[in-house]
Order: sequence, then structure tokens, then C-alpha cells
Amino acid sequence: MKISSRDETDKFMYAASFLLNDEVVAIPTETVYGLAGNAFSETAVRRIFEAKGRPQDNPLIVHIAEFPEIYELVKEVPKSAEMLAERFWPGPLTMILPRSDEIPDCVTAGMDTVAVRCPAHFAANELIRVAGVPLAAPSANLSGKPSPTKAEHVYHDLKGRIPLVIDGGECREGVESTVISLASDVPHLLRPGNVTLPQLREVLGEVEVDPAVLKPLPKGAKVLSPGMKYKHYSPDADVVLVKGSLPDFVGFVNANQSESTYAMVFDGEQKGIEVPSFTYGNKKDPRSLSNRLFDVLRQLDTVGAKRCYVRCPEENEEDLAVMNRLLRAAAFQIITV
Ligand code: TXA
Ligand code: MG
Repeated sequence: MKISSRDETDKFMYAASFLLNDEVVAIPTETVYGLAGNAFSETAVRRIFEAKGRPQDNPLIVHIAEFPEIYELVKEVPKSAEMLAERFWPGPLTMILPRSDEIPDCVTAGMDTVAVRCPAHFAANELIRVAGVPLAAPSANLSGKPSPTKAEHVYHDLKGRIPLVIDGGECREGVESTVISLASDVPHLLRPGNVTLPQLREVLGEVEVDPAVLKPLPKGAKVLSPGMKYKHYSPDADVVLVKGSLPDFVGFVNANQSESTYAMVFDGEQKGIEVPSFTYGNKKDPRSLSNRLFDVLRQLDTVGAKRCYVRCPEENEEDLAVMNRLLRAAAFQIITV
């Protein structure tokens, strides 16, 4: 596998030649790295699922370079989609809409809707333009692992499985896009991201939050977004979220350390903790947390952590994205001290 350098002048033509031959290419986006293939090619889509080890029933997001490209992907474009695109595209927002018949079933996992996103990252956008096709792209990690926010993360997970990674440096947002379904009467938030719930409500008025955003799914429950039922973002370590004050957290960790125990805390909170610790951003700034979260979760694997106690972010509507990812990394293990 080649990691293409950023100053390669013909890199988009080069990468596009892979895509137009039904090959897959890992690309930077503003959220996380994606594993892209021609959305109209069943072979390319099959290769995406194979490379990631992704369950077949988990549909992919289709990426476009400009709003009008949405018309060939969906049945109709409601006013709500136009308003959201006007405000947030290009950017970290994915909309679910009734699909057109042009899209292969394997992209949508047989669902009657399709997820569409217009990424803001220059390289992603330019590659879609040069290739001239929309790109189906899930996050470029092995299924179950934290999403990649650096080209090195992609290389670590997918080396030997894909032919090319475009290195665009570190992803600006660090968590995957907000996913909102516009396929029902009331818009439905399926995955929180850096386009926040208050921002969505400013544009749409009423927005329902799917129960699976912050709670484990009851067994056998019908899922609106198949991705929610899978184990996600998991380092090998046993991750436990700990709610409570900083002194109580420190006391708890020091009293409950065993082999290869680590802690994940906010900036400036490492004092007094007797186990090795990582910081994952400023407590008051959800964007800084989302930016570093996946990198730190991956570092737990690098150091061979067996257990990690994590300081729990404040639970407010701005922090939903980080909380949603942490809860899944922790398999919903949360304790209050
Ligand atoms: O930021 C992102 O969205 C990144 C970058 C690469 O664009 N992509 C990404 O894709 O996170 P992925 O496949 O890792 O997550 C897509 C999520 C999954 O949970 C999937 O089940 C859901 O979106 N999804 C896709 N199509 C859907 C549909 N038609 N209905 C409901 N959920 C859908
Ligand atoms: Mg993913």
C-alpha cells in the first residue's frame, strides 16, 4: 500500500484512476478518514465491505461534491434538506432520504433510504470532482475499531487490504458526521456529531433524538440506523466511564488499579493519578474533545492498556457526539463515584 504525499501534483488524477477501476482509496475528510469507492460500482462497494470486515447489513454514506448531485441519488429533495444544505454543506452533516433506483442495493444494504453527505475537506471534494462519480465511503477503520483521524491510523488497520491512502494530515473535526433522517415526518437524529442538536433545531424546529444515541439498544429492537447495533470504537482495553468530581475520580482510580490500568482525563487533570494517564482535551470545549478522542482511544491499544477509566464529559446537548462515542467505546459501562 502506498501513502501518497500531499504535494504530489497529479495525486487526484492518480487516485481517481483507482476509483474508476473499481478499486478503493482511503481519503481524508474533515470528520474522519473514509474508505471510498465508486458508489455506482458493485465491485467497488463489495471491496469496501471486505477491506473493513463490515457486516453486509450496515449501509454506506454516499459523498458528493456539490448539492445538485443529490438529485440523482434520492427520490425527492424536501425543503428541509435544502435548508440544511444551505447552512451546513459542505460540512459534517449526513442526511437520510428516500433513495433513487440508480444506487446499487449493496450501498444501502437493501434499505429504501440513502445517506448523503457533502464533505468540506478539499481533498475529498476535489477527488469526487475529478473522478466524476459520487463516492460511497464508510470510516476507513477495521470494523469495530475507532475511526481513523490520521493516515497512520488507516495504515495501521488496512495495510495490505487496500491499494492507496491519501494523506491529508489530521482530521479537523475528529468524530464522524452528524446523521439526521429526513425520511420520517419529524426529523430524527440518528448519530450526533459536530453539527449539534441545537444547531439542527435552529434550522428545522422539532428534531427527535433516537433513543439509541445514548442508550444500549434493547435486544431485538428495530433499528433505524444499522450501524448503531454494532460494537464500536473499541480499543482492546476495557473502557469504563466514571462520573463524579475530579478528587473522587482520582481516589477511585488509585484505589482500583490493576495490571496495565490507564486513565483518560481532561487537560490539566493528571496530578495525583497514580496510573499512567492521557488527556483528551479541554472539559469546557467539546470540539477539542471530539478532535482528540479517537487518537487517544487508539493509543490505549498501542500501550497495551488492559483497563482505562475515563472522566465523563458534562452531559449537555453540545457534548452529545463525544458522549455517544465514549459510551460505545465503554460498551455502556458507566459508574458514578
Ligand atoms: O463523517 C462521516 O460520516 C464518515 C466520513 C468518511 O464521511 N463516514 C462514516 O461512515 O462515518 P460509517 O459508515 O462509518 O457510518 C455511517 C453510519 C452507520 O451507522 C450507518 O448504519 C448509517 O450511517 N447509515 C448509512 N446509511 C443509512 C441509511 N440509509 N439509514 C440509516 N442509517 C444509515
Ligand atoms: Mg464507521
